[in-house]
Amino acid sequence: MNHTGKTAEELIELARQVRELAYAPYSKFKVGAVVECRDGRIFTGCNVENSSYGLTMCAERNALAKAVSEGGREFIRMAVIADAHAPVPPCGACRQVISELCGKQTEIVMVNLRGQIETHTVDELLPEAFDGTFL
Ligand code: THU
Repeated sequence: MNHTGKTAEELIELARQVRELAYAPYSKFKVGAVVECRDGRIFTGCNVENSSYGLTMCAERNALAKAVSEGGREFIRMAVIADAHAPVPPCGACRQVISELCGKQTEIVMVNLRGQIETHTVDELLPEAFDGTFL
């Protein structure tokens, strides 16, 4: 147990709340994400779509961008929620960004509105990731 702050249930509730703020007029698929830092700070994000679809930003990357730009570091857990038939896994682009900023053992808690929960580490979601050591 390396987190000092919130329970998984509390993180999920925050993800549920920020999901409501999603700007998703095109897909109607609202996503909420929350990251927890080792010092207990919490940052939230939702997906923000654009009529030029490719400019859409996912909830996970928005949460991480908010966190980094506010000085958040050492991410120990992330929760992601959406209304889907199963817990929603981060997309490939988000996995790469998560892998850059979070440790391999950071837990990604995936949830749907039905209350199904699945947890995987970053390393499980993106094994053999490309990273800065290759540059
Ligand atoms: N989306 C996320 O926010 N996170 C993911 O990991 C998967 C996809 C968003 C992007 C888009 O606004 C909508 O879900 C449908 O793809």
